[in-house]
Amino acid sequence: MKLFQIVPQIFEFESFASFAESFGLCETDLLFTGAHTLQALNNTEVPCITILRDNYGSGEPSDVMVNAILTEAAKHTFHRIIAVGGGAILDIAKIIAVANGCTDVNELYACADKLGTDKELIAVPTTCGTGSEITNISIVYRSAADTKQGLVSDAMYPRYAVLIPELLETMPYNVFATSSIDALIHAVESYLSPLATPYSEMYSIAAIREILQCYIETVSRQNDFRPSCPQLLKASNYAGIAFSNAGCGPVHAISYAFGGKYHVPHGESNYQFFLPVLSFYKKTAPDGKIRSLEQLLCEVTGNPDGFEGLKELLEKILPAKPMRAYGASEEDIEPFTESTAANQQRLLGRQYCKMGKEDIYNIYRSCL
Ligand SMILES: NC(=O)c1ccc[n+]([C@@H]2O[C@H](COP(=O)([O-])OP(=O)(O)OC[C@H]3O[C@@H](n4cnc5c(N)ncnc54)[C@H](O)[C@@H]3O)[C@@H](O)[C@H]2O)c1
Ligand SMILES: [Fe+2]
Repeated sequence: MKLFQIVPQIFEFESFASFAESFGLCETDLLFTGAHTLQALNNTEVPCITILRDNYGSGEPSDVMVNAILTEAAKHTFHRIIAVGGGAILDIAKIIAVANGCTDVNELYACADKLGTDKELIAVPTTCGTGSEITNISIVYRSAADTKQGLVSDAMYPRYAVLIPELLETMPYNVFATSSIDALIHAVESYLSPLATPYSEMYSIAAIREILQCYIETVSRQNDFRPSCPQLLKASNYAGIAFSNAGCGPVHAISYAFGGKYHVPHGESNYQFFLPVLSFYKKTAPDGKIRSLEQLLCEVTGNPDGFEGLKELLEKILPAKPMRAYGASEEDIEPFTESTAANQQRLLGRQYCKMGKEDIYNIYRSCL
């Protein structure tokens, strides 16, 4: 049994300029980034070919957006991709890295097991959530299926994951909140996954502790998260390492149909289902690992009821809203359940305890 691996080499720099110098960024590199990053780098000379994601739409990647970017990238000759951004940018860059001239991402999904790395990828996150800089997965909204789906291939592992905490300081509060909650969910889902090993668990537990500690400190500073950016960036990387080994599970699976249809940011959409899935686990299989998770939460939050402590803390970071507040209605519950069962078997396979279609239906209903 394989126990653990970390594929990308991990670097940390104090500034983008020192990273650019150390990695020798040059004219044959493609910088794929967002307007917020270019603005933050206004005094740094970057000699690379540049593609700005903002020119191809906003929000999370869709197949239409990715195809337009692949078409643009195919016009240039470059050897490395320097992706600087949130999960959306890093995920699209992973697809550019394996496209090999292809300009239709749906064709890549069809041959995911045969993809090869065409360009070396250097991934530099500017949010504290996805851990995408360390993983081999890219998530795209696929129009034909009307849902988000992961494209998974070892060819998409970045060669280098580069952590530059100061790049996170421009995050709007909402991006901090939703991305860090996503990282927390990666840590918890990987901890409870049947594929967890003692190695992945160390990273899951470290990420849970660090993120919750950052939340406590953030709340004590009237929700100023900035001093916690270095710690949050490392914690989201730890969570990425944990889930790239042990996988995510039902929270992500259930979230995709809803998040895809109502364009809810990934972490916020997962947040909808996080506590309901945990309470389903606790009710259905109270004697397993959920108990150690509860103890950990109790220790970090100081609340004798660990899940209550978690809920109270999360509520201070991002007040929860029902699905209806995003436009969802009764009519969505059945199709969301069917879509989850049809499209998310990869993630549903990592459930902590048996969760059938009826349970998924009930979770959607309880969140409406
Ligand atoms: N590949 C993986 O392993 C993985 C895991 C989880 C999520 N994802 C995907 O990642 C995406 C979500 O990523 P995210 O939460 O990082 O957000 P994001 O990349 O969608 O960015 C959210 C918003 O914040 C802005 N932004 C990002 N960094 C900023 C900064 N430093 N300063 C100012 N603005 C900034 C972006 O321009 C965007 O408007 C989703 O598409 C999700 O499906 C991928
Ligand atoms: Fe996620």
